[in-house]
Formats: sequence, C-alpha cells, structure tokens
Amino acid sequence: MVVRTNTNTNTVDQSIQVLNLDRIVMVYLLKLDHATLAHCQRTREISLLIGKRMGLNSNELQLLGLGALLHDIGKSCIPLAILTKRTPVSSTEWELIQTHPQEGYRYIEAADLDDIVKQIVLGHHRWANGRGGYPLDPDQSQPSLFTQIVTVADVVDAITSQRPYRPALNVEYCIAYLEQHLNTLFNREIVSVFKSIKSLHTFENN
Ligand SMILES: [Fe+2]
Ligand SMILES: [Fe+2]
Repeated sequence: MVVRTNTNTNTVDQSIQVLNLDRIVMVYLLKLDHATLAHCQRTREISLLIGKRMGLNSNELQLLGLGALLHDIGKSCIPLAILTKRTPVSSTEWELIQTHPQEGYRYIEAADLDDIVKQIVLGHHRWANGRGGYPLDPDQSQPSLFTQIVTVADVVDAITSQRPYRPALNVEYCIAYLEQHLNTLFNREIVSVFKSIKSLHTFENN
C-alpha cells in the first residue's frame, strides 16, 4: 500500500470540516498556505499510522490526529515569502520561523481543545529528552508521547517531501537521520514503530 498523502485542497478542506473545529481554530488553519496545510494533513496521517501501531485507543487517536493537523497552525503568522524561499533563510527569518509553536499555541489557547492537543502545537519542535529544541521547556521535561509521535511524523514528512530549496529525500535517508538522534531528538520506540510501518508503506509526497 502506498501512503500517497493527498495535497488536493478540496480533500484537505473536507477532512477538516468533518472535525467540526472551533471557528477561531478553523480560521487560523485555513489561513495557512496550501503547502503547509497539506504538510499538516500528511503529518496527521503519518502520526495516526504510528499511533495505531502503538495501540492508542480511538479517543487517543482522535487527539493525536487533531494535534498533528494543528501542529503548524502558527505558521499562518509567517510571511509566505519566507516559507517559500528557495535560498537559505537569514538568521532573523529563522528566529521568526521559530516563533510558530508559541504563536500557534496562542491562537488555540482559549479554544475548547484538550491540553494534549495544545501541547502538541507548543512542543512539536522540542527534543524527546526535553533538553533541546524550541521553544525550550524551562523544566526540560519530556514532551508527552502524543507530542513525540507528531515530532517524528513531522520530520518524516519534511524530509520525504519536496521543499522550495531541495527535492524530496528518500525514506532511507530519513531513517538514518532519525537513528542518528535516537533518545535525544527522537523517541527510540516511536522510530522503531515508524520503521516497521515503513516496511509496509511507501512515503511519497512529491
Ligand atoms: Fe513546526
Ligand atoms: Fe511541521
């Protein structure tokens, strides 16, 4: 089976409508550029594949899927010219990009969403061991399992998708990268589960 994640705008919008999201959350989500929204959708699909394989129940999968879908909602505050840049971003632009988890958290903070979902948005760029990433957790505590799943799924999609500045890289490269950072950036068990899924699926997002 091929996990060919759909980048068709109508399909993305339909799947979001089914979720019956808080109006303000929906507004920010639909403000995202098409490429980021499609990335969020694929990250959701990959997260759910991992979560199912890890035995999460249907309620937990729902929270995981929603958090994954919303994880980059804060990118709606980043100018499109920066997100689509074909050349390396400047240090000032990189600092701006790094604000997206906090911006996203700010957008959804007041919404009627489980804290698990909000923490995915805030913590998806934090390291699995809590000691790095952004925004750094002042307590350096480990993100929840939900957040750590989305962190892996996010990186998988980012690496295996075409970017404005490079072509898509293959899943073998992606696994080598994940394995290089086991127990620091990425949770060992989650990476292992992803590898078991990888043997059954092809990740193609060109
Ligand atoms: Fe992100
Ligand atoms: Fe992302």
